Amino acid sequence: MEKVLLLGAGALAADLIDLFGAAAFVGAYVDPAFQRATHVDGVTIQSDWASAVSAASHYVLASSSIEHRARASAQAERAGLHPASPMVSPTSRLARTAKLAPGGVVGHFCAVGPATSVGMHGLLMHGVVLGHDAVLGDNVVVCAGAAIAGYVKIGSGSFIGTLAVLAPNIELGRDCVVGAGAACLRSAPHRSLLVGNPARRLPVGGAPDAG
Ligand SMILES: CC(C)(COP(=O)(O)OP(=O)(O)OC[C@H]1O[C@@H](n2cnc3c(N)ncnc32)[C@H](O)[C@@H]1OP(=O)(O)O)[C@@H](O)C(=O)NCCC(=O)NCCS
Repeated sequence: MEKVLLLGAGALAADLIDLFGAAAFVGAYVDPAFQRATHVDGVTIQSDWASAVSAASHYVLASSSIEHRARASAQAERAGLHPASPMVSPTSRLARTAKLAPGGVVGHFCAVGPATSVGMHGLLMHGVVLGHDAVLGDNVVVCAGAAIAGYVKIGSGSFIGTLAVLAPNIELGRDCVVGAGAACLRSAPHRSLLVGNPARRLPVGGAPDAG
């Protein structure tokens, strides 16, 4: 039986507890450098890493910040914890041939198509549609209501904002950020920041350009 520690004690942790029940977790660790704890019903919040880890064998990332997720999983791996088996809401439908790697979480009302692949620590929030043959790298966060069409590829460490649309066959590189409501119709390289409909690339830290 996996003893799963939530890494994060904010809104996403509360959502995961609501989805899977407090009994699914042995505690929630809040990293004081990254987060303040909010309300996590029925689960003990720890801010001492050593005692949080001592009760756990596995972990699940409970933050939507890519930076926090990368740092937290590295810390957990160093402590000898393993990514939890995928947690999938019973209201979601995964095709029989969909592959979800360890650490994966699928919220309510998602549709995950055939021959899809979601890397380690993939997070599909509520209402995500993942079209057939889509391939997501490790630590990809897809926010509520995003629609990712068939054959799309998304590089590791990317964040797809709520209600974004990714057109069929496009490929996003690693560490991309897609803004809320963006309609991505073309492929984009690593570290792209994409907003609008049709999506344009914003130079990171600068003014929008047509890209
Ligand atoms: C894309 C995003 C990360 C950009 O954040 P940022 O780097 O702080 O960018 P800024 O707010 O400085 O905006 C830069 C420009 O892009 C525009 N812009 C930002 N987000 C946009 C969006 N989603 N759609 C269209 N334009 C957007 C801004 O209007 C601004 O344009 P201007 O320079 O012409 O005024 C953020 O706006 C976003 O959409 N995040 C996703 C949030 C989300 O879905 N959360 C789900 C919760 S789990």
